[in-house]
Amino acid sequence: MNTKNKGNLAKILCILIGVAMLAVDMFAFVGCTKNSESTLSPTPTEAVVDNKPNTDVATNTGAAPETGTETGSQTGSETVTTGGEDVDTLYPVNACESIFGTRLCENFADDFYVGTCVSYSLTQNETATKVIVEQFNSVTCENEMKPDHLLDKTASKLNGEITVKFPNDTVSMLNWAKDHNLKMRGHTMVWYSQTPNWIFYEDFDTSKSLVSREVMLERMESIIRQEFEYVQENYPDMFYAWDVCNEVIADEGGLRDCLWKQTIGDDYIEQAFTFARKYCGDIKLFINDYNCYVGNKRTTLLSVVKDLAEKGLIDGVGMQSHLDVGYPSVGLYTATMKMFAAFGVEVQITEMDITTDNKTEKGLNVQGQMYGDIMKQVVDWDRDGTVDCTSVTIWGLYDKISWRSSQVPTLFDNIMLPKPAYNALMEITKG
Ligand code: G3I
Repeated sequence: MNTKNKGNLAKILCILIGVAMLAVDMFAFVGCTKNSESTLSPTPTEAVVDNKPNTDVATNTGAAPETGTETGSQTGSETVTTGGEDVDTLYPVNACESIFGTRLCENFADDFYVGTCVSYSLTQNETATKVIVEQFNSVTCENEMKPDHLLDKTASKLNGEITVKFPNDTVSMLNWAKDHNLKMRGHTMVWYSQTPNWIFYEDFDTSKSLVSREVMLERMESIIRQEFEYVQENYPDMFYAWDVCNEVIADEGGLRDCLWKQTIGDDYIEQAFTFARKYCGDIKLFINDYNCYVGNKRTTLLSVVKDLAEKGLIDGVGMQSHLDVGYPSVGLYTATMKMFAAFGVEVQITEMDITTDNKTEKGLNVQGQMYGDIMKQVVDWDRDGTVDCTSVTIWGLYDKISWRSSQVPTLFDNIMLPKPAYNALMEITKG
């Protein structure tokens, strides 16, 4: 039986089992407990962002524009509203064990890691864990390793110096990854968003003045050192790449204005990578951004990457790759990847998703075609040495929990069944 037939058979079986199980409403989400460090609702509370195609954006206000409806607090058996659409349980049970009989990560085992992003509650769910472990060999914390999660204000004030503390939910996720033999990408250290303002102020107090360049450089080095030391001590060899700087280029080109830049100066990116190089051990250092292929933004990013690569400070470029079926073209996207590769650095696709407003079979096939065309080109170039692609991460395990869920951008549908996009990736043959 070929892959496609196997997939179809599995799909039918899964639907039958799923319907039966949903009928008795047997699924209740029970795996989540509150920890002492952060408030967690029983299921993911990822903001659902109904973004316009191609904008792939974060704003300078510290959060992505949100026009969708937040999922809010839910239980596994409640009906929830996502992006204006009624959906059933958050974690459907019809994603049965050994669901697909095929493994995405195995298909690309000779080429690169294949990953997905995870939230704390996703890692607490047995069904989701089975799917992840079967299909992927790399994960990224969707939010739980961002600065607002790891920088501890109380401890910093108490210690009189910036203090990193991996909270319980993050630690639980890292243990989960370790237990399941998953590799990890670190996301992210130096970012304008999801970073508390207090780190930039005297005595960690926003009513006082911004600190001097010297003090902020000390704090930056300390944050980077503490994060790397923690994972090297507790999870040796698990992390293979880290987004040291995230989204540092402005949408219109040039460096993005932010408090890092205001306190340290225009060289803050180089300073961050210099500190990271000092403490990273074997972990590869990445600059990560969205809309890498767009006009002046691309021009600036290319020049920043070239400079850092010449100085030996970075190992690769993370192309986030929040795409839409209408833009960019596969040609524009892959040509940009080749430009980064020409500097002799690795390229990773770090947050791939492709939105579509057409959810018909035809629309999903078009989406699948785009996933397939991009990956085919990346695999071909990786194999002939044009591009050294070392990891591809899909941003969201399945549509319902994606940050852009209303535009169904992932490989698995709302009940975790494989879409044409999944099949398109599986059909990329070896050779
Ligand atoms: O954790 C709180 C929760 O306690 C609270 O009840 C709830 C209600 O507002 O908010 C929860 O935080 C949300 C968080 O996701 C966790 O669910 C934030 O509001 C929400 O803004 C946040 O969205 C994340 C977004 O980054 C923030 O910038 C998305 O999940 C995440 O997918 C997205 O990921 C980014 C990458 O890091 C960088 N590239 C772009 C990408 C998409 O925006």
